[in-house]
Amino acid sequence: MDIVVKTLHGLEEVLAKEIEQLGGQNIRPLKRAVSFEGDLGLLYKANFELRTAMRIITPIRTFTARNENDLYRNIQKIDWSEYMSNSDTLAIDGVASSRIFRHSKYVALKTKDAIVDQFRDRTGKRPNVNVLTPSLRVNIHIHDDFVTVSLDSSGESLHKRGYRTDVMEAPINEVLAAGMIQLAGWHGQSDLTDPMMGSGTIPIEAAMIATNTPAGMYKEWFGFQKWRNFDEALWKDVQQEAMDKIKPFNHKIYGFDKEFKAMRIAQRNVQAARMEDHIEVKRKPFERLERPSDDGILIMNPPYDVRLENTDINEFYEMIGARFKKAWEGCHAWIISSNMEALKHIGLRTSRKIVLFNGALECKFQKYEMYAGSRRKPREVSVSAKLKSNDD
Ligand SMILES: C[S@@+](CC[C@H](N)C(=O)[O-])C[C@H]1O[C@@H](n2cnc3c(N)ncnc32)[C@H](O)[C@@H]1O
Repeated sequence: MDIVVKTLHGLEEVLAKEIEQLGGQNIRPLKRAVSFEGDLGLLYKANFELRTAMRIITPIRTFTARNENDLYRNIQKIDWSEYMSNSDTLAIDGVASSRIFRHSKYVALKTKDAIVDQFRDRTGKRPNVNVLTPSLRVNIHIHDDFVTVSLDSSGESLHKRGYRTDVMEAPINEVLAAGMIQLAGWHGQSDLTDPMMGSGTIPIEAAMIATNTPAGMYKEWFGFQKWRNFDEALWKDVQQEAMDKIKPFNHKIYGFDKEFKAMRIAQRNVQAARMEDHIEVKRKPFERLERPSDDGILIMNPPYDVRLENTDINEFYEMIGARFKKAWEGCHAWIISSNMEALKHIGLRTSRKIVLFNGALECKFQKYEMYAGSRRKPREVSVSAKLKSNDD
């Protein structure tokens, strides 16, 4: 079957690589999505294992529609009893980029009417709508007059991993965190530090990557489990196969934050993800943080705006740059921010820049390489200066 995996802007290539590793065929990167071909087992596997997938849909029908009546008629041509019964519940997601169909919500409403009316006309009873946990979630995509009707196999967004019991302000999307770690080329080969961890999303996603723990390990349900063709035995096999690939991790992940509350929340989330053995969480401001080990990379998601108490955001980013230089010699540091002006105040040369979106905010994910030895000169000077002053 055709399978379309939706993702976030900038993560298409990472996702395509993940799909390739999973065994997908005819992989094609699209805009904020990747399509491939696979069977039902691969669809279950993709939902369970892909870290950079937001939703996974399977197209069941395409047609052209020049007005709402065309849309209604063509939706009714599909035999919906193949996919659900009148006692099941239904949700519709509409996405329209079209001069004819300007309102996605209206497209969804018209589609819902067509499906519900089909059941009522045939059986006298209509399925109800349930937007959060429906038996069937249908996706309608309209580009100009071209309509694609798909079934949503994920049910709820896959970024909801199930390990976040609580969050700090501005938590990063789990899919974005997993994408950033993979874009940074980290897969568990060294230590990793997030010095502004908030709720601990980056450390937890990193630990899941390093141990090969399936992204959906702690999810309570997937949409396909409510489908009429759900194959329980196949699903059990898929889960077992993924679990058998979990591997040991011989390095350490460190999470720090200046807030006591963040430390508590991150600790709880780390426990919920069962990653206590791999992640060390501590309270420490970045201003005073020394590198926890000689090995490894740093990935951080600092505050982007001026909601900081008493501190100018540009000065705050200047401090980050100064600390990179002083305390993180020999380290590769990655930082994501939407504040382009503040980023300039880091004051160091970037070796990579990637455009990503954190929600609606356009961000840069930038890499800094602090070469070992860049501090050697000043240190030698200061040692000899000290000797000299002792001599004096
Ligand atoms: C955008 S949030 C990080 C969100 C996090 N990635 C998550 O998923 O929850 C930024 C974090 O930086 C922390 N922070 C701000 N200034 C800091 C400093 N000087 N040192 C350490 N942490 C700091 C805040 O307490 C906040 O938790």
